[in-house]
Amino acid sequence: MAATDGEKLTNAISPVGISGYEGQKRTCYCGELNEKDAGSRVVLMGWVNRQRDLGELIFIDLRDRTGMVQVVTDHNRSPESFRIAKKVRSEYVLCVSGTVVRRAPGTENPGSPTGMIEVMADDIKVFNRAKTPPFVIRDEAEPDEGLRMRYRYLDLRRLPMLRNLELRHKATLAIRNYLSQNGFWEVETPTMTKSTPEGARDYLVPSRLDPGRFFALAQSPQLFKQLLMVSGVDKYFQLARCYRDEDLRADRQPEFTQIDIEVSFSDEDQLFAVIEGMMKHLWKEVLDVEIDLPFPRMTWNEAMERYGSDKPDTRFGMEIHDITGLVQESGFMVFRNTVESQGTVRALCAPGCAGMSRQELDSLVAQAKEFGAAGLIHLAYLPGGEVKSPVRKHLSDEEVAGIASVTGAREGDLVLIVAGPFEVAVTALGRIRLSLGDKLGLIPEGKYKFLWITEFPLLEKNEEDSRWQAAHHPFTSPVARHAHLLESEDESDKALIRARAYDLVLNGVELASGSVRIHERELQDKMFRLLDLSVEQAEEKFGFLLEAFEYGAPPHCGIAFGLDRLVMLMAGVGSIREVIAFPKTTKATCLLTGAPSQVSPEQLEELGLLRKADKQQKTCK
Ligand code: AMO
Repeated sequence: MAATDGEKLTNAISPVGISGYEGQKRTCYCGELNEKDAGSRVVLMGWVNRQRDLGELIFIDLRDRTGMVQVVTDHNRSPESFRIAKKVRSEYVLCVSGTVVRRAPGTENPGSPTGMIEVMADDIKVFNRAKTPPFVIRDEAEPDEGLRMRYRYLDLRRLPMLRNLELRHKATLAIRNYLSQNGFWEVETPTMTKSTPEGARDYLVPSRLDPGRFFALAQSPQLFKQLLMVSGVDKYFQLARCYRDEDLRADRQPEFTQIDIEVSFSDEDQLFAVIEGMMKHLWKEVLDVEIDLPFPRMTWNEAMERYGSDKPDTRFGMEIHDITGLVQESGFMVFRNTVESQGTVRALCAPGCAGMSRQELDSLVAQAKEFGAAGLIHLAYLPGGEVKSPVRKHLSDEEVAGIASVTGAREGDLVLIVAGPFEVAVTALGRIRLSLGDKLGLIPEGKYKFLWITEFPLLEKNEEDSRWQAAHHPFTSPVARHAHLLESEDESDKALIRARAYDLVLNGVELASGSVRIHERELQDKMFRLLDLSVEQAEEKFGFLLEAFEYGAPPHCGIAFGLDRLVMLMAGVGSIREVIAFPKTTKATCLLTGAPSQVSPEQLEELGLLRKADKQQKTCK
């Protein structure tokens, strides 16, 4: 006879008796047991990872946040626990009392930390039953991303996810300890603040008491930490929640955490020393890895020249080379025209790639175009000395030999060339460098390559309205040797001004960003003029900070780390979503709670976002 729905449900959720929690005391965690515990009595509490019924014996893998241990129930030794064990299903919540015993020879599992022992149960209580989860909760399983987000609390039960949370906890603790020991105070600053239309788009919060006005959720504590310097706090830090409405990707979330730092009476060198000490402490405390200090430094110009990126991955070579001088008289008109129009010709050598297929080469060309290049030229230095290239006939033997000598290409290698404006040429090659480095297996695992990038451009052109804007933020100091360019009439000088702004990069990821701030009013005014901000506009946007600066602002500088990115790299995972307990999707939604959600017309009206008439209209519809 077919089971009714009611019967199906009772079968799915076995009708074992549920015990209340009456002060039973857990003696240890599942994952902590080992051979030394053999003979001990234990009380364990956790979730059923799997139940296996072998007839006379039933095995249960019991899981808690530390790991798993095998529990055995024997029909003859403890009939009552056997009866309960028979009915338990995956994800039931149990209390198991028993004795730790060595596993019989031949049944050990050396691959598991608790694989040499098992717990012989003499009492099992069921604290709770569980529905069949929407995906199997196993360490090695990678459920569908949508399901993981929807049932995040179940996804987090997987041990690698719990490990990530633990690592994040240890990292934040180590950071707090280090900074506190070095004289820093943690000060909280408002997350509901004033909208300042620099940087990313704001998340806005309407004010009920002041209809038509809005708070912005803080994109960072930048202005407040500078005010704290005016207050004499001297050394500040905060694990600060930040909110930015921007396009999301693997290392960006709308809501993220910064380790925000600011110090007075300090320059780059002193700040870098504190930060390097923090990284060394963190890696030692949390990963037990020694990292070498000091970190190398590279200017933005050098990074772009050599790696085509302001966050170069220096775990491998394959650097970009300048061959402009070599090809300025070239018979290949693309090269010659580029040089004549003040462009540049850059090349990189892909080792052992001379035999690349047409299809592989086409895909590299497509990549170069995706990053703005007009095209990608290749020269294959074949074994035996022949050089194959669609433009070979336009190039002299000297050019071909010169390109090999500058790029270090030998027989069997492939040289890739982009001609164009500087940033376009190096950026396209920089991207190709990364994808080839990955494809050719040149990027070593388990290596940590920190690098300071210094002297970023002070200004950048806003692509939408062609206006110059601050590349970091408007309070960033120019380097002293470029201070005179701030008042230059020549528009092209603006691109040349370098800032006392720096990033800390790790393995090709921008971990942190900061700058030495302007603390003199005169220089600040020049900066605003440079940004085409009138006195009134500057007052309107940043009046409170400018006013504070009139009351004695000390020289100061600071930096902010993306904590999520830091922990992502420490955990060796590919997305910050893996180290955030409840992340948003790339569409900035929360599949677990359903946020963002619609709100009632009453709420909107209360906030002054819906007029009474509109509300009536809405209700009538
Ligand atoms: P910046 O905007 O460069 O600087 O941010 C500092 C660091 O924060 C991290 N980060 C993010 N992480 C996850 N998701 C995001 N959407 C996101 N945006 C940024 C990055 C970045 O390096 N106030 C200045 C710092 C300063 O000058 O002191 C600031 O916020 O790791």
